[in-house]
Amino acid sequence: RDRRRHHGIRRDRDGCRRRRGGEGVSALPSGFLFGAATAAFQIEGAAHEGGRTDSVWDAFCRVPGAVIAGDDGEVACDHYHRYRDDVATMKELGLGAYRFSTAWPRIRPGHGPVNPEGIGFYDRLVDELLGAGIEPWLTLYHWDLPQELEERGGWASRDTAFRFAEYAVDVHAALGDRVTRWTTLNEPWCAAFLGYAAGAHAPGRQEPAAAVAAGHHLLLGHGLVVEALRAADPTLSLGITLNLTVVDPVDAGDPGDLDAVRRIDGQINRFFLDPLLRGEYPADVREDLAAVWAEGLVQEGDLATISTPIDFLGVNYYHGEAVSLQPAAPREALEAPTDRPTSTPFPAADGIFFHSRELPRTAMDWEVQPEGLTRLLTRLHEEYTAPRGTALYVTENGAAYDDEVAPDGSVQDADRVAFLEAHLAAVADAVEAGVDVRGYFYWSLLDNFEWAWGYAKRFGIVRVDYATQERTIKASGRRYAELIESVRSGL
Ligand code: NOJ
Repeated sequence: RDRRRHHGIRRDRDGCRRRRGGEGVSALPSGFLFGAATAAFQIEGAAHEGGRTDSVWDAFCRVPGAVIAGDDGEVACDHYHRYRDDVATMKELGLGAYRFSTAWPRIRPGHGPVNPEGIGFYDRLVDELLGAGIEPWLTLYHWDLPQELEERGGWASRDTAFRFAEYAVDVHAALGDRVTRWTTLNEPWCAAFLGYAAGAHAPGRQEPAAAVAAGHHLLLGHGLVVEALRAADPTLSLGITLNLTVVDPVDAGDPGDLDAVRRIDGQINRFFLDPLLRGEYPADVREDLAAVWAEGLVQEGDLATISTPIDFLGVNYYHGEAVSLQPAAPREALEAPTDRPTSTPFPAADGIFFHSRELPRTAMDWEVQPEGLTRLLTRLHEEYTAPRGTALYVTENGAAYDDEVAPDGSVQDADRVAFLEAHLAAVADAVEAGVDVRGYFYWSLLDNFEWAWGYAKRFGIVRVDYATQERTIKASGRRYAELIESVRSGL
């Protein structure tokens, strides 16, 4: 067997460690938190029930060619009506926590008052979770901005940050007696740069300066919410979830490639990490983005608000990037499978070329790179979180594969099983190396609406038959349950 050592981790030829049994996770402590994640727009459906108004994603789905096959969130997984069964499935899997998001346009549509029916749904969901012994991990923003607010400028407008804080306070007033884990934002890079620069995500704008402004206003909104919830209840555990990556040079000896690494790391990772955990935007990133960084964007006191201490940093990791500096066009757009024209999410990536490596790929065409997760967690711990005593949680990691239903109705998703085992082993390696990572959430509990890809990509450990809404726990779900049990019981 050809084994290589890479950053101290032994891997098989394809980058996956395929240890059997619970061996790969044996370094995880018995109190390690295991969960699964979803998001409101991707699973709830009931788009016009209970007083919900349009989000930017409802509007974006109506743009011809924006989402594959014209899919939308009207019914999705019908979780709004089936949440009890879904919580029962979580219990069957042995999940310790469930990460979900509240839909802003259900709870506080635009400038209107709080909608009690909207809050009512999450009230019932939280009670159901607690009754099943599952800890609710609530995310306040997973990309479904009320369309009314987009029409007033969206995240490019500073006012949206303050509206976000108002909504957060309302959600806390209703659920704060039972929910202690609060995540402000999910993946603000995607909301800002895929939404306002690439145009691949809602609201579909291609205005790089608006994207930078959106990035800052999302961070400001995060900070305002942390200040407000902290003041309301100092015992809450507050955090944010970022999509973070490891960026490698194609040629580590080439200064151009190293500069490409610096720029992409700056525009994905450090644009968010530095203001949150160091109270400043990195000087090189500001310089790279100077042409699209509006004068007066960052106001007095903003960085102090944004860097208000948090309890945990949520890490969403899917794959890394290999970049070089070449006179080639940058990759057109990330996550833009549609026939709608999109542009680059990187306002300062001229000449940077993204490379494919000889790694296995998922159905998203994303490279399977588990060792990247160990490196990412280690870097975050050393450079950002340990000095401030901030805990790390992997709040998303998962894979889409073209699942097949066997004649007996089962789904034998061996690729996803291998993906899950390899990434849990990568987390265990980080724990072994002393990184303070305390939990892992698989994305996703259910197959669901994968944004511009619609229902074409399935990430679930539970299959959803969209014609009947029938759920089937896949082999990966069974394997996850076994691993959870083996860690919990210390075997
Ligand atoms: C990131 C997002 O948070 C989630 O909504 C999405 O479905 C997964 N990653 C997979 O792309």
